[in-house]
Amino acid sequence: MLFFVLLLKVTWILAADGGHHWTYEGPHGQDHWPASYPECGGNAQSPIDIQTDGVIFDPDLPTVQPHGYDQLGTEPLDLHNNGHTVQLSLPPTLHLGGLPRKYTAAQLHLHWGQKGTLKGSEHQINSEATAAELHVVHYDSESYGSLSEAAQKPQGLAVLGILIEVGETENPAYDHILSHLHEVRYKDQKTSVPPFNVRELLPQQLEQFFRYNGSLTTPPCYQSVLWTVFNRRAQISMGQLEKLQETLSSTEEDPSEPLVQNYRVPQPLNQRTIFASFIQVGPLYTTGEMLGLGMGISAGCLCLLLTIYFIAQKIRRKRLGNRKSVVFTSARATTEA
Ligand SMILES: *[C@@H]1O[C@H](CO)[C@@H](O)[C@H](O)[C@H]1NC(C)=O
Repeated sequence: MLFFVLLLKVTWILAADGGHHWTYEGPHGQDHWPASYPECGGNAQSPIDIQTDGVIFDPDLPTVQPHGYDQLGTEPLDLHNNGHTVQLSLPPTLHLGGLPRKYTAAQLHLHWGQKGTLKGSEHQINSEATAAELHVVHYDSESYGSLSEAAQKPQGLAVLGILIEVGETENPAYDHILSHLHEVRYKDQKTSVPPFNVRELLPQQLEQFFRYNGSLTTPPCYQSVLWTVFNRRAQISMGQLEKLQETLSSTEEDPSEPLVQNYRVPQPLNQRTIFASFIQVGPLYTTGEMLGLGMGISAGCLCLLLTIYFIAQKIRRKRLGNRKSVVFTSARATTEA
């Protein structure tokens, strides 16, 4: 039995990525990535925690234009569980406008958390993570012939980061992926997905975004990514999030390990600048602060209402009192007359 486990471990290690086996937690977890993948210890790593009071507004940043995202043609798309995430291959008819070069799409994939949590995104805004994150990966096709060729070059890649939160309703666009997860439950399984409108996976408004130079968020962590993280979020339902958290396995059939918490923690910003395409209007509050603020305002309003009520009562009593005394005096006046 022990021998079998060891043999399994060895084949596992050798089979992984043609390199070293890596995971998010444990002895091959993210703290240990730099030992096998030196760039993971670099000074321009992703993801990051975007502190909005430290970003630089750049009025010259053009809006990112996803071209061909809504017209995928008729060819089915490959959906693949690679043991680290679920990945959808994208045809080269999809590309991005509004960046220094023409970036052609290659694939998209997701990051998410553990069952029962709403923390699973890689990027954070003002230290707030969301339930999940979508990455749409593109490469500079003007300069390079393929994704793998571009992946190690400065700004060779452009990735769109979309923070996903839980909303009231189902998001039908995400179901084009989520409804097929059971077909790729185990590592290395693949299936075909009918083409769909990939634009609808993105938030409706794309005007507000953050831009910075960073890296792949998984080994080998190449520092070659021009990042665009949208300020608006996409929404999926709780049921959809649970499907993402509960369906996949990070291993082949036996022994099965759930594929969860596949997010890297925020990396140091170091000397980098984060640019924003927009000016934050007013201070941005976190949910906790909003709740506190809301309760404060409610309490304030209640106090004000009570004060007004008591003052009004007092005035009324005073008026009644005056009237009584008037009646009294006039009554006395009549008897006296
Ligand atoms: C990224 O790095 C390049 C090269 O240093 C620089 O020219 C560019 O302005 C940087 N872009 C951002 C968004 O920081």
